[in-house]
Amino acid sequence: MLFHNMSSSRLVVSALLVLCLYSVHTVSIKKNATSRANYECRRVQRTKTCSAKICCERAARVQEVKKVNVDLYVESLCPDCRMFMAYQLFPTWLLVEDIMNVTLIPYGNAKETRGKEGWKFTCQHGPDECYGNLLETCLIHFLPNNDDHLPIINCMETARDPITAAESCVQMLAPSKIWNDVVKCSNGSLGNDIMHKNAIRTDGLQPPHKYVPWIVINGVHTEEIQQQASNSLLAVVCHTFKVCWVCNLNGVDSVSHFPC
Ligand SMILES: *[C@@H]1O[C@H](CO)[C@@H](O)[C@H](O)[C@H]1NC(C)=O
Ligand SMILES: *[C@@H]1O[C@H](CO)[C@@H](O)[C@H](O)[C@H]1NC(C)=O
Ligand SMILES: *[C@@H]1O[C@H](CO)[C@@H](O)[C@H](O)[C@H]1NC(C)=O
Repeated sequence: MLFHNMSSSRLVVSALLVLCLYSVHTVSIKKNATSRANYECRRVQRTKTCSAKICCERAARVQEVKKVNVDLYVESLCPDCRMFMAYQLFPTWLLVEDIMNVTLIPYGNAKETRGKEGWKFTCQHGPDECYGNLLETCLIHFLPNNDDHLPIINCMETARDPITAAESCVQMLAPSKIWNDVVKCSNGSLGNDIMHKNAIRTDGLQPPHKYVPWIVINGVHTEEIQQQASNSLLAVVCHTFKVCWVCNLNGVDSVSHFPC
């Protein structure tokens, strides 16, 4: 596997992947996978960016592009979560959003108990963290697309104080005026309900989570995946992504896989 002995060659591999993927990223593959893929294939052949490493395998027909699911169990004030967001998740998503489906589940090591009115949450880094988790959860509720909520949450998590930064991040980056709704949700029963769902989802993890951020790729968490993703999420997403593009060489459709 390419990941063995990766430490020394990691930078080179990452750089190559960035080069390869950049061509995938520059043109959206959402609209018509066949024509996009063929276009990309010709482009790559023309530019020779990765031609030496392209392994086109024969394939009967075009496969649908299936994004890699990256689920991230986090909490708003955890330093490692903030580092991962700033140095892995957000840059990787910017590069390869077309092949990546990010789900953030803010809750992490929090605990919940049933109170008189709704659930009561206790967070690892105190009540501020609980409020930060609620703000992010409500943001995701109102802006379910990665395009809309990831830049805002990245803005919060890379600020000195995610909670005080929240309002300006939302005002600056949200596609519509939603700050009042987000605050209302975070302080009310809607946020409470969704946070309870986050709790159930987090507590239902198999294997149970032991730390945060807890990374799940296409439904699977292993120590190896966690380690690899912490080193280079980009590499993990690219290697997990199966179909890169479809080549039509001499009238025969071929599907090229990573590593390209
Ligand atoms: C996608 O593009 C290909 C090649 O240009 C074309 O043959 C095909 O009909 C298109 N498919 C759709 C669904 O538009
Ligand atoms: C994105 O990931 C979530 C959680 O893994 C999943 O429920 C959802 O169906 C995925 N969406 C797409 C478009 O793949
Ligand atoms: C919402 O809750 C936060 C944190 O508990 C508090 O600081 C803020 O004043 C509340 N806002 C409103 C509008 O109730």
